[in-house]
Amino acid sequence: MATSVSPKLPVLLHLDSSPLESSISRELTREFVKVWKTTHREGEVIDRDLAARPPQPIDATWIGAAYTPEGARTLQQKEALALSEELITELEKADEYVIGVAMHNFSIPSVLKLWIDQVVRVGRTFSYGEGGPKGLLEGKKATILIASGGVYELGTPAGTWNFVEPYLRNILSFIGVTEVKFVTAGGAAQLRGGMDRATFLKPALEQVRTVAA
Ligand SMILES: Cc1cc2nc3c(=O)[nH]c(=O)nc-3n(C[C@H](O)[C@H](O)[C@H](O)COP(=O)(O)O)c2cc1C
Repeated sequence: MATSVSPKLPVLLHLDSSPLESSISRELTREFVKVWKTTHREGEVIDRDLAARPPQPIDATWIGAAYTPEGARTLQQKEALALSEELITELEKADEYVIGVAMHNFSIPSVLKLWIDQVVRVGRTFSYGEGGPKGLLEGKKATILIASGGVYELGTPAGTWNFVEPYLRNILSFIGVTEVKFVTAGGAAQLRGGMDRATFLKPALEQVRTVAA
């Protein structure tokens, strides 16, 4: 008797990293999720708020465990990798990622770096081969929604201070995620100067609606 296999339903992994409730990057990811849900009615969204529940920093036990073959790991080593396993499973399960990023000190929030340290793992998300390192996540796409106080246009002197976009582009590509789009709401410092929030957010929200659809 023929058995029918149901098609896999789309899954979106939604990460936020700003510590602020009034966060601009959070407003952008909220809009992305809202639009994505309308175009993927059967889809599932996995929400992970990295500021509310920061991943633990990797330590010597974690590193030792990551470089120990799976079958030879002690119970303590397995426990050390448990969160990493959970976070990597989310990356594997999702087809698409949306990541909200607040620029902090010209780079990413520390909680997002903690997440990266947990998910960039030898043998799980990358491997070393003859041709060098190889990313192991396949067929995924990511949208990175950034908010920054200043404006950092690539190719300008200010652009050299932006370590958010180049770092995320490279680290995602290292684990195999090469289809990455960026939307930046730059110049949020103008809000302190009295600029209206809706006016400031309008162009970024429009771009978000386009990339989420
Ligand atoms: C701790 C901290 C560090 C910041 N560092 C920078 C920075 O280096 N460059 C910049 O342009 N804006 C910086 N800002 C401004 C934020 O990028 C801006 O407020 C942005 O809206 C933060 O994203 P969020 O609204 O999603 O939290 C910083 C803000 C904070 C709170």
